[in-house]
Amino acid sequence: MQTESGLTIITVPFSRDDAEQLDAEDPLRRLSDAFDLSGGVIYLDGNSLGPPPKQALARLQHTAADEWGRDLIRSWNAAGWFDMPKTCGAKIARLIGAPAEDVIVSDSVSINIFKLAAALHKRNGGAIAVYENEFPTDGYILQGLAALTDAELRRPNPADNSLTDDIGVLLVSAVDYRTAAVADIATMEAQAANAGVSIIWDLSHATGLLPLDLAGDGARYAVGCGYKYLNGGPGAPAFLYARGDGAALDQPLTGWMGHADPFAFDAAYRPAEDARRFACGTPPILSLSALDAALDIFDDVDLNDVAAKAQRLGDLFLSRALAAGLRTVSPLPGERRGGHVSLRFGHGYEVIQALIARGVIGDFRAPDLMRFGFSPLFLSYADVWAAADALIDLLKTEDWRRPEFTRRGKVT
Ligand SMILES: Cc1ncc(COP(=O)(O)O)c(C=O)c1O
Repeated sequence: MQTESGLTIITVPFSRDDAEQLDAEDPLRRLSDAFDLSGGVIYLDGNSLGPPPKQALARLQHTAADEWGRDLIRSWNAAGWFDMPKTCGAKIARLIGAPAEDVIVSDSVSINIFKLAAALHKRNGGAIAVYENEFPTDGYILQGLAALTDAELRRPNPADNSLTDDIGVLLVSAVDYRTAAVADIATMEAQAANAGVSIIWDLSHATGLLPLDLAGDGARYAVGCGYKYLNGGPGAPAFLYARGDGAALDQPLTGWMGHADPFAFDAAYRPAEDARRFACGTPPILSLSALDAALDIFDDVDLNDVAAKAQRLGDLFLSRALAAGLRTVSPLPGERRGGHVSLRFGHGYEVIQALIARGVIGDFRAPDLMRFGFSPLFLSYADVWAAADALIDLLKTEDWRRPEFTRRGKVT
């Protein structure tokens, strides 16, 4: 079979029996009960919007009805609302290998990138760099920051040796949102340390999927989102990690929640001494409570098991797609990959719509990528086998050519 580079490769052999055997041995199998994926859907989009854990729905109901509805404003203290950005941050810290006190949940990834990059640019000076293939918002935000500060914006190709000492801040995704290629955090941090570059890691496609060890790898700054593998809900708040010296960084969105003592109502801003200085305005408690409950699923989960299962699920699907003649931009079966695979197909949008009509939900990334996510907490190997069957059948019958599958929504 042909890969994107034209190479012929030998794929991992799989059969439906292999898939069922892997399900029988799967240490994560018990976790699928934590989700209610009723309706016969095979959900291959947990890398974009994780499905609701039952306990997150129950918590939402409790927070809304009891904490808000009954206890009213008393809940800021009594239910721990005020501290949630930090208590929730501590749960995420465990997943990314960071000290609990260095992580805070706040705002969106976009806004956290702005706060962190602006603080680091103010300290380091130099050019602001973001690889050309990064998720658009990362580049857009840094473009805005460069314009605001008159800094040079660089968009290097990741293949070039771009860690030069005239760069102050570089933004890198730990897992590429299109290809699922995985960055080598420790190696890049060692190079960055030599060049005096501060790297901000975008962990959106890595958190809750890969066993990260940011502190061990020398990574000092990161952001990531709560609504993908963390299953925190649509628009769940994001997180920000600033190691150690984070308390010496001046971020520009100096809202009252980042003040050392918000309820002193001082006239002048004085930043908190810890990661809370990266907070800005009032935290969204309903969203935070859903994320907080969703994070508890990871309490007794070994992320090595999660990463290994995502790799195998992706290998299974990719092997079959390649054997059916599709091309991929993702690492090949057997090569290290994040939790999704992307297949290149000119009519990818239509194929994804046709698959959704058959109950297999993936997504489309312009101009021609069909993206399938393999979130290991709720998917079985048999699910992924059946999804590959559906894709292969669609390609054979060309059922995707039906006119209803060409209609485009605002979100793809
Ligand atoms: C790598 C990456 N960064 C950032 C975002 C989005 O950030 P925000 O939370 O600001 O919407 C996404 C969304 O899919 C993403 O994949």
